[in-house]
Amino acid sequence: MNKKDQYFAHETSVIDEGSSIGSETKIWHFSHIMSNAIIGTNCTIGQNVVVSPEVILGQNVKVQNNVSIYTGVICEDNVFLGPSMVFTNIMNPRSEINRKNEFKTTLVKQGASIGANATVLCGITIGEYALIGAGSVVTKDVPQYGLVVGNPSKQIGWVSKRGCRLNFNKKEEAFCPESGILYVKENNIVRVENQKIN
Ligand SMILES: CC(C)(COP(=O)(O)OP(=O)(O)OC[C@H]1O[C@@H](n2cnc3c(N)ncnc32)[C@H](O)[C@@H]1OP(=O)(O)O)[C@@H](O)C(=O)NCCC(=O)NCCS
Repeated sequence: MNKKDQYFAHETSVIDEGSSIGSETKIWHFSHIMSNAIIGTNCTIGQNVVVSPEVILGQNVKVQNNVSIYTGVICEDNVFLGPSMVFTNIMNPRSEINRKNEFKTTLVKQGASIGANATVLCGITIGEYALIGAGSVVTKDVPQYGLVVGNPSKQIGWVSKRGCRLNFNKKEEAFCPESGILYVKENNIVRVENQKIN
């Protein structure tokens, strides 16, 4: 349950009973946290954000303005949701049909970032540290460290944990230009050779 003295909620925000908000988290103007939503520590929930029932956000999740995070969405630690990006939770909505028991799970894995105004169809997994370009429409799973853009989004490359482009050589090795960390690609799966963070 909430310990109201351990997080900040702007006076215009609405926090429903039964939600759980971690310490050091900040919730800004006009945002609504609904019942049974779970928000980890040190998160930032921007302006005009809705976090629907049962949503789970890990630690240090950054949600920019005007994002609705619908039931069925799970964001792991260190996920970034860009301004006005859009989640969905039903593939074939109809006003006349109640599909509340058909919400699909969308999983955004650790460290992934979703660009401004992107749309993520439901039932999709966005891999660890993947980067979704602004305005993309994501229609299928994105591999870890994958960089995708466009509508429908297509993979145009790979990025490091720092979000820098990875240019693989003939040995399928690439160094992050910022951190110097070595990444390797095997069977089209990218991983950090040295598991040190950053
Ligand atoms: C996806 C992104 C990371 C790519 O950056 P980059 O590695 O510097 O890529 P480039 O600018 O070299 O572009 C490579 C190609 O992809 C295209 N492209 C880049 N971003 C694109 C996007 N969002 N949608 C469609 N195409 C895009 C470029 O036009 C270029 O195409 P070309 O090769 O035909 O000329 C960046 O463009 C982006 O969208 N970042 C997200 C910004 C954002 O939403 N931030 C939110 C916080 S404010």
